[in-house]
Amino acid sequence: MCLIILANVLNRFETEAIASCYAFSVLPLYLIAMSNTTPLPLPPLSVIPPQIACVADYEAYAQARVMPASWAYLNSAAADQLTRRDNRLAWDAIRLQSRNMVSMSGGHTELTLLGTRYKHPVFIAPVAYHRLAHRDGELATALAAQAMQAGMVLSTLSSVSLEEVAANTTAPLWFQLYIQADKAQTMMLVKRAEQAGFRALVVTIDAPVTGVRNAEQRAGFTLPPHVTAANLAGMPVARQHIAAAGNSPVFGSGLADGMPTWDDIAWLVSATHLPVLVKGVLNPQDARDAIRAGVAGIIVSNHGGRVLDTLPASIQALPGVVREVDGRVPVLLDGGIRRGTDIVKALALGASAVMVGLPVIHGLAAAGATGVAHVLHILRTELEIAMVLCGCKRLDEIGKEVIWQP
Ligand code: GLV
Repeated sequence: MCLIILANVLNRFETEAIASCYAFSVLPLYLIAMSNTTPLPLPPLSVIPPQIACVADYEAYAQARVMPASWAYLNSAAADQLTRRDNRLAWDAIRLQSRNMVSMSGGHTELTLLGTRYKHPVFIAPVAYHRLAHRDGELATALAAQAMQAGMVLSTLSSVSLEEVAANTTAPLWFQLYIQADKAQTMMLVKRAEQAGFRALVVTIDAPVTGVRNAEQRAGFTLPPHVTAANLAGMPVARQHIAAAGNSPVFGSGLADGMPTWDDIAWLVSATHLPVLVKGVLNPQDARDAIRAGVAGIIVSNHGGRVLDTLPASIQALPGVVREVDGRVPVLLDGGIRRGTDIVKALALGASAVMVGLPVIHGLAAAGATGVAHVLHILRTELEIAMVLCGCKRLDEIGKEVIWQP
């Protein structure tokens, strides 16, 4: 039923059904807002205005619909946010080479990845706590993924349980896994993902500690009571370590002793029948170790600049990783993608597919499932236009020659 509504919406990007869910979804935010005298977030859009012409246009509409502290969590990055800025600037600095008068007959954007056929190479990246953006959280995102035939990676820190998401979508789902300090707990999450029909595990390897999140600190972000890590319900919560003056804040905490290593990846690969990908690779040495540990895929990512600031942009790191991997496993990428031309550039430099995180959250906050679907629709449309104008009718025709060289 919801899908039919969404399909209709995709013609005009407006729906009364979403409007009627609306009062429901925003009410608690209003109550919190009123008690804090912070500005009230607007309700999600029921009609996508024509002013939203590209993915980046969603950001302002999203910001107006999310509590300021939650916005600081969702939309900011680590420290001075230089990597986040560079993720964008690096795409803009690459120029494409056009190619005209090439037959596009039989063109498509399909690909096969880890044994599954996908209609296009745009995946939804794992992002924690979608309910910070919209009351329906990951259920809305997964509905949009289904409607737009996109793969979706669900976060360990999703605000709807992995079972509930899987039961409410036919979108191909992968599960993003944070290896827990306790192996039995990690295994419990893996088994749940296997049983719920997830098709792959994506282990985030670049965040053994939380980054220096100054924007979140300044905004005083804490999870509101209606948003929880649904998959971790009932599991012991790691206690925050606050070092006494003069003591070591990280190494003195015992935290360092439980940080995962490549041995844990090798163990995981042997402990599950699902393909295991690692996300957060920028260094070719990490790619080498990942392949040695038996991974089925590598995701080049700097975590949207949210962990270690001043890392290079993902697209700058991609060629080195692709060289090291040398075709042995697929390489995917996320970080700063806002245009179909960015996707062409990523594929030209060796990625098999891309993931988008923040634009999805912006679409979700602005207009729920409709907004996410629209974001995916825009990206796919722009990708196909760019492919035609670069003379590529299939993804495997997008090669280095598509990148302009002076
Ligand atoms: C979680 O992965 C985050 O970046 O906050």
